[in-house]
Amino acid sequence: MIQLDNISLSFGSREIFKNLNWPIKDGKRIGLFGPNGVGKTTLLNVIAGQTHPDGGAVIVPPSVTVGYLPQEVGDSVSANTVVEEGMTAFSDIQALEREMESVREELGRVSGGSAGERKRLLHRLDAVQTELSTRGAHTVRYQTEKLLLGLGFETGDLNKPLSTFSGGWRMRVALAKLLLVRPDVLLLDEPTNHLDIESIDWLEKYLREFKGTVILVSHDQYFLDRMTDTIAELAMGRITEYAGNYSYYLEERKSRHRIQKSAYENQQRKIKDTERFIERFRYKNTKASQVQSRIKALEKLERIPPPPSDDPAVHFKFPEPERSGKAVLELSGFSKSYNAADGSVVTVFRDAGPLLISRGDKIALIGKNGAGKSTLARIAIGTEPFEGERKEGYNVSVTYFAQHLAESLDPSNTIIEELESQAEARNETEIRSLLGAFLFSEGDVYKKVSVLSGGEKSRVALAKTLLSPRNFLVLDEPTNHLDIQSRNVLIEALRQYKGTFLVVSHDRHFLDSITNKIWYAEKGRIVTYPGTYSEFRYHQSLRERMDPESTAEGGTPAGNGRRVKYDEAQNKPAESGEFRRLEAEKRNRLYRELRDRGIENMENWEELSASQLRSALTGLEQRIRDIECNISEVEAFLADPDNFRDGGRSAEATQKFDRMHGELKKLYERWEAVSSHLEKRVSD
Ligand SMILES: Nc1ncnc2c1ncn2[C@@H]1O[C@H](COP(=O)(O)OP(=O)(O)OP(=O)(O)O)[C@@H](O)[C@H]1O
Ligand SMILES: [Mg+2]
Repeated sequence: MIQLDNISLSFGSREIFKNLNWPIKDGKRIGLFGPNGVGKTTLLNVIAGQTHPDGGAVIVPPSVTVGYLPQEVGDSVSANTVVEEGMTAFSDIQALEREMESVREELGRVSGGSAGERKRLLHRLDAVQTELSTRGAHTVRYQTEKLLLGLGFETGDLNKPLSTFSGGWRMRVALAKLLLVRPDVLLLDEPTNHLDIESIDWLEKYLREFKGTVILVSHDQYFLDRMTDTIAELAMGRITEYAGNYSYYLEERKSRHRIQKSAYENQQRKIKDTERFIERFRYKNTKASQVQSRIKALEKLERIPPPPSDDPAVHFKFPEPERSGKAVLELSGFSKSYNAADGSVVTVFRDAGPLLISRGDKIALIGKNGAGKSTLARIAIGTEPFEGERKEGYNVSVTYFAQHLAESLDPSNTIIEELESQAEARNETEIRSLLGAFLFSEGDVYKKVSVLSGGEKSRVALAKTLLSPRNFLVLDEPTNHLDIQSRNVLIEALRQYKGTFLVVSHDRHFLDSITNKIWYAEKGRIVTYPGTYSEFRYHQSLRERMDPESTAEGGTPAGNGRRVKYDEAQNKPAESGEFRRLEAEKRNRLYRELRDRGIENMENWEELSASQLRSALTGLEQRIRDIECNISEVEAFLADPDNFRDGGRSAEATQKFDRMHGELKKLYERWEAVSSHLEKRVSD
């Protein structure tokens, strides 16, 4: 068990921890929760031994290993490839391998030398080899690759240099390394910030199976709900534990606050009475001793703090931008590809669009990681070269927010200097009131950017973005790092906003509150939908169910009404023995691949024989039927309003629903491709 014993820590005059005591029980799943800037990251730093408290001690038993995933990764990147970097988690095994190499070399050198020496070396070699195999050295690469794939890397990415990946992906490698080490205690600081829904699913599964202790910081309430059995609330320098998940915590906190409030009010009343007594009888000799004892009692009284006040409302008018023309932005049909570091070409968009943004549009740009959302956001602001035409409308002024903006703040500025540095500087009163709206207190505004917490930095960058009255905003993942209260501030700000915006986000509640149009990036195209996010999801599920193009009666796909003829004329080439052997080898290889991966995951499926194709097709049809059956079950679950009240479970079901739809789509596509290929082969 790790024990935090009477920890105190201040930054300047600000007390972050005050006599904080916290026994961290083994095997617990703890959500460390509190608003931006309360000290969560600092506390993890203290537990990990990276920050020393001013007073008190962290007691970690010597046998316990602690692994820490920090909120932000630094800029320094090793020259390793992704998989090499992941494998450094096994540094002990790698050291043994190096030793084995050097013993082998030495053996080569002493060959023909003294028998005793050779015997000693052979012994050593044997010992090292045994050690390596008991530690499972041969599975190191496999384990590493498996984990990286789980976290969303593609097979082709694994051997690319780490330096070619963005911060978010480097964060995933850091996470992979951490998980491979299998520490007893995992400290995770906002691990979902850089993950898409599928990788979050994967991480959840991983954490569920993980046997050790987990301390998790997150502002994502679904994630907290599913992953934790204890909430440790950090407030006013101390930890208060709640023995349940996040939903339990919310309920329980409410009732504890009620109790605290009445205890506080009682005590305040008593204090007032005592003070009145003292005041009245202070100069009466007959009461002198009673007065004295009451004064003492008051001094000794342990004061109950007032319960924290509820979320303050936002009272701020955001500067109103000049009106733009009716058409804000037109993108002609467009394509975009990148040259990847290894020389290959990655196509992000092919013949997407045309797209039109009109004044007053509030667009949610959604899609999986890697679907090109950030690229499209940059195309929209005009900083990303692409094939196609971008036409800005009359009097349009654009401003852009992306996560890296928070990192490009000048660390030596104070918050207020940072905002004043904005070209269209406004007067200090206005800036202060904007900062107040973004939950910075009077004292905070002189803090240096370099010491700000993740959420505080994001808030400064957002305030900076919203300070300049532009009429077209493009926001890329603005809610990352923000606590719930700050998200509400941003929602409020965007509701007030009179201009036009395009926002990239995974946060369903956020999107539902502010957007009225959807752009869905998928497979190099953009699907547009005029409605809210929830409406879009609903519409999608309906469309997939009703679309006669993709399903025939009986639930089996009909491939645009075509039916496959299964008779086939065999054209046998003249065969040499060698030729036949090679053919058989290929057939076996293909058969194994088909069996192990399924035809939907094969790239070279066209090489399969006609009979293999046919049986794969039957298999696909079976899988399609199964998934459709599962989907209707989940649909029934989702349609029941009772289940909707349980946010965690219905979110889980929605995710499952999406996943199955994704899979179904893939299966349909492969089915179509296979059946028309087979048809062609037969008729050729
Ligand atoms: N070196 C420092 N000097 C002064 N103040 C600091 C320093 N480091 C952190 N702080 C302040 O201490 C507070 C706690 O920071 P911390 O990063 O622990 O917050 P957090 O709870 O993790 O917030 P978030 O949810 O935004 O990540 C913040 O207000 C931050 O500005
Ligand atoms: Mg933090």
